[in-house]
Amino acid sequence: MKKKLIIANWKMNKTYQEAQDFIIELKSFINKNPINCKIIIAPPFVYISKAINILNNTNIKIAAQNVSEYLEGPYTGEISIKMLHSLKVNYVILGHSERRSLFQETDTIIEKKIKIALKYGITPIYCCGESLIERNNKQKFEINKKQIETALFKLNEKEIHNIIIAYEPIWAIGTGVNANPIEIQEMHSFIRTLIKKKYSNSISESIQILYGGSINLENIKNIFLQQDVNGGLIGQCSLNPSKFLKIIKSI
Ligand code: PGA
Repeated sequence: MKKKLIIANWKMNKTYQEAQDFIIELKSFINKNPINCKIIIAPPFVYISKAINILNNTNIKIAAQNVSEYLEGPYTGEISIKMLHSLKVNYVILGHSERRSLFQETDTIIEKKIKIALKYGITPIYCCGESLIERNNKQKFEINKKQIETALFKLNEKEIHNIIIAYEPIWAIGTGVNANPIEIQEMHSFIRTLIKKKYSNSISESIQILYGGSINLENIKNIFLQQDVNGGLIGQCSLNPSKFLKIIKSI
């Protein structure tokens, strides 16, 4: 069985000192303990360089939480893919519901960012997921299908191969209420079937589909038992180093 992938999405949290202490603690933990999962940390941009330096010679990778849709130029405050590439960042989270709803990122913008990331060899972690209203209106399959088709289905086979999908129902993000494992499996299997129909059986089997939304030490085991769940995108429970290490140990 393939090792599960754990992505720690720190969002806009931690001071420089806190970020550094966390990364040092994580590194020393994995140097002493065999772990049964792959780990990616997504710190805020300003700590990426430090994190990469500390984690040099480990298997822990770094993801950016976002990237500009523009390559370079007069875009005050933006971070480009060339910058991330020059720091040797391997992954970037795109399409997160917080970016969609709070920063008005449309499917078109997200699609552009995906293209740019792939061009620079940085793997997009593409987030999709329905809102509570859409879920209650029984539209969750339709909504996730639309998000995946618009953002991903213009990609060729080589490109889609380099995508990680994270199913993150919006109502479960940061709320303490996770989707139930059966529903998660249903959605992951639905997404895998979409990929199979559009591309191929082998791509659908190899593409990693993660779940995100209030993962914690109590629920992770059951969620990870589901056949089509390849890992998790963890927000809140990735912030406290001892909680996060407990989660890693539990896998
Ligand atoms: P959460 O966040 O674990 O705090 O729900 C998940 C995410 O937004 O990626």
